[in-house]
Amino acid sequence: MSTCQPFAVMRLTHEAIRSGLNDLENMLGDEAEIPWESARKSFDQVSQCIKLHAAQEDLEFYPHLEEKEQGISHDFTKDHQAEAAEIRSLNADLNYGKSAETDQQTLRNRLLAFIAKHREHLANEEVVLLKKLPELFTYFESVDVVRGILGHDINAFENMQLPWVYERLNHDQREMYKAMLKGCSPDDRYNKFCQIMDGIEKPSA
Ligand SMILES: [Fe+2]
Ligand SMILES: [Fe+2]
Repeated sequence: MSTCQPFAVMRLTHEAIRSGLNDLENMLGDEAEIPWESARKSFDQVSQCIKLHAAQEDLEFYPHLEEKEQGISHDFTKDHQAEAAEIRSLNADLNYGKSAETDQQTLRNRLLAFIAKHREHLANEEVVLLKKLPELFTYFESVDVVRGILGHDINAFENMQLPWVYERLNHDQREMYKAMLKGCSPDDRYNKFCQIMDGIEKPSA
């Protein structure tokens, strides 16, 4: 994949989500000493990114895929629906759990199950959908679709997803992400995107 293929934004968002899921999993590692407040914040952030990513896919990406190959995205939309319900329930339990005698072992197991299931969802999308994109879309079609994805909820993208994703990418991934944004930014938002990215520290490694 060349460094400026527009759909790299989806793949790199998956990488950032994987990194967020790894952080959460690490917090849940020691059953006896789970930092619940940090785990709650970590789940809140990764699940916000997952929800926006799913909405971008359902509303701005899958409809274009369906025009090319009917039914190709149906299983993934079902995953998103099940996942949205589980996110609501987990957020409620995590927020409630501090004061109530919530069964923490059960909550930990549900979070670990969510992490495993979402990793599977990301991998399946990559194997089934992302691999097929070069044969389904021309470069110019890809730019249009990605522009729609970024513009789906531009405020949520700029305030939450862009900084959260960018922070989790390594140097080379950041270069690729930036190149893609440059080609696909809706309504000349690239300068604003750059201001946001420039405010994020360089990756440590
Ligand atoms: Fe998805
Ligand atoms: Fe995805």
